[in-house]
Amino acid sequence: MQKLELLYEGKGKKLYKTEDENLLVAEFKDDLTAFNAEKRGNEEGKGALNCKISTQLFALLEEHDIKTHLVKTLDDTTQLVKKVKIIPIEVVVRNIATGSLSKRLGIADGTVLPFTLVEFYYKDDSLGDPILNDEHCLMLDLVKSESDLEELKRLGRQINVIMKKFFEERRLKLVDFKVEFGVDKEGNILLSDEISPDSCRFWDMDTNEKMDKDRFRQGLGNVKVAYEEVLKRILEKQ
Ligand code: TMP
Repeated sequence: MQKLELLYEGKGKKLYKTEDENLLVAEFKDDLTAFNAEKRGNEEGKGALNCKISTQLFALLEEHDIKTHLVKTLDDTTQLVKKVKIIPIEVVVRNIATGSLSKRLGIADGTVLPFTLVEFYYKDDSLGDPILNDEHCLMLDLVKSESDLEELKRLGRQINVIMKKFFEERRLKLVDFKVEFGVDKEGNILLSDEISPDSCRFWDMDTNEKMDKDRFRQGLGNVKVAYEEVLKRILEKQ
């Protein structure tokens, strides 16, 4: 499937039209951004690593009956995906407190949460992706009904159960992650976007070393080395 004109360029990916109006090509970029794109960088090969990692994780979730937008991987940095209308809610799922949760609520970094926390954030860069409650989502018409919000929470938790176990088997703690969903032309809610070290936090089980985009956010270095290690652990035990 050939990529045609550029439809959209986001911070981490470009989306191209194809001859099929229901399919798009997603191209993973090497760019890295943090803190609402105030911090920017570029890591050669990062796009290819995220494409491979996301392909593996979407395949894992498909095996567990989670519907996704992924049709197939085309090459190192591109995937063929179903065209969906993205629900502008970032669904964040947390097992361990860190990042904005620790900052906002004063929970010590690294505290294991008493239960899995699901949060919604408004996918709007100009507003700085503010946190939303269910009523905000409904008031802003981000979803059709409350049952869609329940479905997003259910899917977030289900994805967490599958991925937490998968990464535990690979000596990585799944600290938290962000997922996005879209609606296809039949009205199905599909997991979309990507799941990668750009959108998840992984801590090494033995050393607690950060193996994700926090290496970039916090200027810890060895960003690509960490992403390569995550991919290696995903692949070594299939
Ligand atoms: P946070 O602690 O900064 O709110 O991030 C929670 C999780 O969501 C973390 O795994 C990083 C991910 N995330 C994104 O993928 N994109 C974003 O824009 C933000 C703010 C977080």
